[in-house]
Amino acid sequence: MSRSYRVAILGATGAVGKELLELLASRNFPIADLKLLASSRSAGQEICFQGENILVEAVSDRALENLDLVLASAGGSTSKAWAATAVKKGAIVIDNSSAFRMSPEVPLVVPEVNPDAVTQHQGIIANPNCTTILMALAVWPLHQVQPVKRILAATYQSASGAGAKAMAEVKVQAEEILSGKEPTAEVFPYPLAFNLFPHNSPLNDLGYCEEEMKMVNETRKIFGDQGIKISATCVRVPVLRAHSEAINLEFDHPFAPEKARQILSQAPGVKLVEDWQANHFPMPIAASGKDDILVGRIRQDISHPCGLELWLCGDQIRKGAALNAIQIAELLVEKNLLKGASLSVST
Ligand code: A2P
Repeated sequence: MSRSYRVAILGATGAVGKELLELLASRNFPIADLKLLASSRSAGQEICFQGENILVEAVSDRALENLDLVLASAGGSTSKAWAATAVKKGAIVIDNSSAFRMSPEVPLVVPEVNPDAVTQHQGIIANPNCTTILMALAVWPLHQVQPVKRILAATYQSASGAGAKAMAEVKVQAEEILSGKEPTAEVFPYPLAFNLFPHNSPLNDLGYCEEEMKMVNETRKIFGDQGIKISATCVRVPVLRAHSEAINLEFDHPFAPEKARQILSQAPGVKLVEDWQANHFPMPIAASGKDDILVGRIRQDISHPCGLELWLCGDQIRKGAALNAIQIAELLVEKNLLKGASLSVST
């Protein structure tokens, strides 16, 4: 029997929140009731969903009552403050922040990679970091055929990873620079328009930033393989909403590029984009607004007989965040793990 669900989006006014709304509608997620939650700054705003204006409420104990599912994308501190309350009141929380990703009792899920992990949840399921999701989609299908020993990644990350305000800031900076003014930076530590800088998350004693360590630790958790060696350099670039990654993989034995191409051309969530004659490969502009990540430039690493190089672009807001969360919600429905109410069938 089909069921429908009482859903809340926590962070509904943000970049990912808006995408969650679009995806709930376009994928026909069975919704009995939808609550839009944000900070008190946005309370009273109205957002249109499927022709109906819904009032944004400030998150509170009361606002989290009578829910089956909370899709949280309001930052780590908000998730830490409210996820447990939502769970206590009976909801399952799919959390887009990094607050719970490495907690042993919290499944960290990319549906194309480890869908069965959702069954282990104790109320919270974590959506991985965006660069990690994109990399996992391309590497997992190859890892299934021949285990990857080592991954070296360099990322080219768009402004969207820092939210709607960061995207707006880059546009303003571009206008300021083009009109001969000094660019102003508030969300980012430096101007990003016409510039780039190493990811500004906190650094550890080894010189790696938090974003780089997320790629290391989260990939190992999602793959269920603590033995994979991973190193990453994460860089913020003046692109609005899709991330790019240059990835070098090392295997035990040579991995023929043609074989990798054939595997990735059939991998779920992946689209091969390679036109060697035209020198045409994935670009963030082409990946923006797309569900699939784009992979190309698959080639033998000339510096290592067992190395393989590839390049990918993926929409950070979509598969890197909102789409992955909705796919997790769909998995919960498919596996009968969401409470919900039966839909009465009209005759
Ligand atoms: P608000 O618009 O009221 O600040 P983004 O990642 O695009 O910056 O969006 C962040 C989202 O998280 C927004 O919807 C924002 O709401 C919400 N948010 C930020 N801080 C809080 C908070 N303390 N409580 C609830 N929601 C919050």
